[in-house]
Amino acid sequence: MEHGMERGRTPKISARSVSKTFASRCGSVPGSRGITALDGVDFDIYDGELFCLLGPSGCGKTTLLNILAGFERPSTGEVLIDGVPVSKPHPKRVTIFQEYALLPWRSVLGNVEFGLEVAGLPQFERRRVALGLIELVGLRGYEGRMPWELSGGMRQRVAVARALAVDPDIFFMDEPFGALDALTRLKMEEELTRIWLEKRKTIVFVTHDIDEAIYLADRVGVMTSHPGRIKRVVEIPLGRPRDRTSFDFIKIKVEIQAEFELVPGSAFVAVACAQGTVEVGGV
Ligand SMILES: Nc1ncnc2c1ncn2[C@@H]1O[C@H](COP(=O)(O)OP(=O)(O)OP(=O)(O)O)[C@@H](O)[C@H]1O
Ligand SMILES: [Mg+2]
Repeated sequence: MEHGMERGRTPKISARSVSKTFASRCGSVPGSRGITALDGVDFDIYDGELFCLLGPSGCGKTTLLNILAGFERPSTGEVLIDGVPVSKPHPKRVTIFQEYALLPWRSVLGNVEFGLEVAGLPQFERRRVALGLIELVGLRGYEGRMPWELSGGMRQRVAVARALAVDPDIFFMDEPFGALDALTRLKMEEELTRIWLEKRKTIVFVTHDIDEAIYLADRVGVMTSHPGRIKRVVEIPLGRPRDRTSFDFIKIKVEIQAEFELVPGSAFVAVACAQGTVEVGGV
C-alpha cells in the first residue's frame, strides 16, 4: 500500500520535494550541469517505524540518508523532523555506517560508555547502562575486548549498543551489515529485529538487498536511479520474526523485483501459477 495509508497520523520524518545536485568536478566546463543525485523525493516516516530505503548502487540512498540526518543540505525541498526543518545533525539522532566507526583505543565497554560520558552521566550510572546494552546486543563477556579483537559482526553490535546508549530518537543506518558475511548478516538482521521490537525506535535503514528490506521493514521505499527517486512505497504486512521462505515473503519479493524489472526465479513462478496467485503475464 502507498503512503496514503498513514493518513491521520503525524509523520515523524517528512521529506518534501527533496532534490540534490552535486556540482560537477568539471563545473567550469560550459554546459556541465552537475550530478542530480535526487529529484523530487517525497515521503513520510512514522514514529517507531522501521523504514527501509532500497535501491541499486548510486541511486542516492546515502545522499538521502545524509540529508535526513542533517549532514547534507538538499538543493531544493526540505526535511522536517517532528515538524521542524532539519539543518544540522542532532545528538538524539544517531547514524550507523557500513564501516565500523568505533574508537580504536577504547574497549567494548569504553566505546559503549562514550556517549554517556558526553551526556555527563555519573560513572556508576554509565557502567550500569552500558553493561545492560552490551548484554542486549549479545556481547556479555566481551566488555574488555578491544575493537581489533572483534569480528565484523561483533563490532557492528558494539556500534548498535553505543548508539543505543544515548537513547536516540531516530537511528539512521547506512548498509550497516553490508561488509558482513552472509550468515552473520542474517544473524544481525534477526538481532536488529529483536532490539527494535524491544525499543521501538524509529529506524531508517538503507540497503540494496531486497530480502534484507523485506525481512526488516514495516515499509520499503523503492528507489530508482538517474535521478534518485522513491518510485513506490511498499508495505510489508508480515508478522515478526519473518520467514524468508514463506509464500507471502516471496510474493512481496517478486512484487519488488518487478519494480526493478528483474525476473523472479522459476521455482516461485511454478508454485505461484499452480496456486493461481500470480498470473504468468504479470510476473
Ligand atoms: N559528494 C559528492 N559529490 C559529487 N557527486 C556525489 C557526491 N556524493 C554522491 N554523489 C553522486 O550522487 C549519486 C548518488 O550517490 P549515493 O552515494 O547517494 O548513492 P548510493 O545509492 O548510496 O550508492 P551505494 O549503494 O553504492 O552506496 C551518485 O551518482 C554519486 O556519484
Ligand atoms: Mg551508499
